[in-house]
Amino acid sequence: MPSLVQPLVSKPSGSLKGEITPPGDKSISHRAVMLGGIAEGVTAVRGLLEGEDVLRTVGALRKLGAKIERTVDGVWHITGVGLDGLKASKNVLDMGNSGTAARLLIGLLSGRSFSTSFTGDASLCKRPMNRVIDPLSQMGATFKSTDGKLPLSVTGSASPTPLTYRLPVASAQVKSAVLLAGLSAKGVTTVIETTPTRDHSENMLRHFGAKVMVEKRDNTEAISIEGGHALKARDIVVPGDISSAAFPMVAALLRPGSNITLNHVGMNPRRAGLIDTLIEMGAKISLQNKRTEGGEAVADLVVRGTGELKGVTVPAERAASMIDEYPLLAAAAACAQGTTRMLGLHELRVKESDRLSRIAEGLKRCGVTLEVTGDDLTVQGTGQAPAGGGFIETAMDHRIAMSFLVLGSATVAPIRIDDGAFITTSFPGFVGIMNGLGMKIDFLKV
Ligand code: S3P
Repeated sequence: MPSLVQPLVSKPSGSLKGEITPPGDKSISHRAVMLGGIAEGVTAVRGLLEGEDVLRTVGALRKLGAKIERTVDGVWHITGVGLDGLKASKNVLDMGNSGTAARLLIGLLSGRSFSTSFTGDASLCKRPMNRVIDPLSQMGATFKSTDGKLPLSVTGSASPTPLTYRLPVASAQVKSAVLLAGLSAKGVTTVIETTPTRDHSENMLRHFGAKVMVEKRDNTEAISIEGGHALKARDIVVPGDISSAAFPMVAALLRPGSNITLNHVGMNPRRAGLIDTLIEMGAKISLQNKRTEGGEAVADLVVRGTGELKGVTVPAERAASMIDEYPLLAAAAACAQGTTRMLGLHELRVKESDRLSRIAEGLKRCGVTLEVTGDDLTVQGTGQAPAGGGFIETAMDHRIAMSFLVLGSATVAPIRIDDGAFITTSFPGFVGIMNGLGMKIDFLKV
């Protein structure tokens, strides 16, 4: 957990100019460390996100017996222990702020015949873990937790019972936890999803030689893994995180005359819902040098800002493909001309904070008209700069912090946030990089 509170202010800025490579994809980085840790051989990872969340996963895998080193060239070398080689950790695994690290590791360790205790920071300890406890218990793991939240301990089974599990929530973390437990099951474990969620686990498991099958049935997809097959170390190049690239992208769109290039951005279609939405709003974003690396789509993005976006309706079916981008989209909607409706946002309530409440509260403090009806959010843009001037409570949530800083570049008065320290979970160096492009973010005294 970041130890120092870091209040920040974002002041209205001019146009953004420049070229950057956003930090490595957080989802892919977690998975690279976990799969590298249980593969046979040495996995070299380039472009790993060196953010607080991923460093928690690195620390946990080290405690479980994997050797992980970073060389001066920034490459991470993970010496895997093999499918059955993880050892019980003497210490509690503290996953900090990271839901992905906690849920995926709980899944992985459900297939190991020892006990592990998990904890996290105040934000993570509020988040629901029953969504992984339920299916993993059916596979034979036993859990001790007071209320289905961290802290908890899991005692895994060396030979989990293969399971066919229909996801009750659209969650890549739950899907991945079950597939990782299924790696050591004797037989085939299947996850059925009705809404496509990010498929980085499936892509990377295949890359490491696991037997993963995907079958489309009407509107559902069945993802199966055959247990018992060793993973072989493979080199990985982590693309830039589209969820981090989104911040300079929207900042540029809000400032007329902006022209920025974002290089090497992961463009997995199950993550790219924000780009579709922004283009519908009139954004000028062009994808160049489209390519595939390690099973993941990648492109360079050129973004030109006109300061003219228009309101749209974002259907609930699109939510999973841009689930982390709603705070930022709400900021963009506040500056657009007309009404933006964002439907089906119930999962936002169980992220690093209750994001639906944080967005609504923060936008109101900045003079924006909005309404939350059930799980839907409607933001009324006037096409003029919102008043701004608000003080934003970020509730230990990195994306709330970054979204309101981006909004502050386009409001009449500056926006202050109570704490930017959590930004380092996903976007180390955010302030310097954004200021380098032309934003005006300053550190405030505590
Ligand atoms: C993630 C999945 C999503 C996303 C999170 C990362 C992952 O969570 O919000 O930031 O890496 O699998 P859910 O699975 O809870 O939707």
